[in-house]
Amino acid sequence: MTQFFSSTLLLWHRQNPIDHAWKKDVLPYNIWVSEIILQQTRVAQGTPYYIKFIKNYPTVLALSKTTEKKLFSIWEGLGYYRRASNMLKGAKYIVETYNGKFPKTYKEIIEIPGVGPYTAAAISSFAYNLPHAVVDGNVNRVISRWHDIDEDLTKQKGKKQIQTIAQRLLEESKEPSLFNQAIMDFGANQCKPVPICEDCMFNKKCKAFLLNKVGVLPRKKQKKAKKKRYFHSFLFTNHLGNIAIQKRTAKDIWQGLYQLPMIETKSIQSIKSIEIKNHFSLGIEPNILKTQKFSQILSHQIIQFVFYNIPLTKEHEIKNKSWTFTSKSKIKNYGFPKTLTSYISNNYILDECH
Ligand code: ADE
Repeated sequence: MTQFFSSTLLLWHRQNPIDHAWKKDVLPYNIWVSEIILQQTRVAQGTPYYIKFIKNYPTVLALSKTTEKKLFSIWEGLGYYRRASNMLKGAKYIVETYNGKFPKTYKEIIEIPGVGPYTAAAISSFAYNLPHAVVDGNVNRVISRWHDIDEDLTKQKGKKQIQTIAQRLLEESKEPSLFNQAIMDFGANQCKPVPICEDCMFNKKCKAFLLNKVGVLPRKKQKKAKKKRYFHSFLFTNHLGNIAIQKRTAKDIWQGLYQLPMIETKSIQSIKSIEIKNHFSLGIEPNILKTQKFSQILSHQIIQFVFYNIPLTKEHEIKNKSWTFTSKSKIKNYGFPKTLTSYISNNYILDECH
């Protein structure tokens, strides 16, 4: 079976070429950006973000000079914002340590903040054709099926088996960059979670196919139920027509993004006007014009939002120091979780058009 896998994979790759925006000019910086974006995001969803990112920050130096606030507004909708703040740290590190020139060895690349073994392998193979196998979800799927690796791939033993096989197959191919791209594209387009086995070039030798285990590999561990949280969010508009926002500073989801003033509760039950008055020390009870519910599903949590539109008058004592009142034209300068962005644009920005 030597080299059957790698030569067949490269043949599949030649016959099924897939255009990727970040492969136009193969620069380590561009590969880095694309790989970080694609870590938790599918190619189709991530590509427009990649294009926008490179347009705003064409070089490491340009990225190193931005602020987290500006960067988060570009990242908005992608989630996992820690990736973006790590990229900013990474860009500063490359400017300070290498004068802005991207390092050229795996050992140096993996030292960049936010870069783990996967991203270091991707950058060093795609940009410099160095022989480091990438292992992501696609590669886990392809290799666990091809070799019938019936292990929990979140555990060390399973991880090590896949990494070792991937590395051996890549070395056999003698084409590190092409091999890594081919196996990821193959996993994303043919050996998918629900795969297309009937016309697959590997189906005469794929162990999972022959053993009828395609549907059960890779092994999945039992998922924990997602935690439900209730965010009561207040669209407070003051007498000047500006709305109150505040930064999320706690170590929690969306840290560093902005939000509407809010109260988190243990149930979906709406909050009464008197409770809003007391919680925010408003002096008098506010008048709730409208409430609306939306939910946002994250990887480990379900956030149920209850929005309340509330005009604040001069009689309300607004002395909450953590609030900033912002106007319609300035709101786009702040990054919000995506449910908030759409609520604010439908209930505040659009008001102007009526
Ligand atoms: N997902 C993550 N990196 C990728 C790449 N280089 N090509 C296709 N899909 C990917």
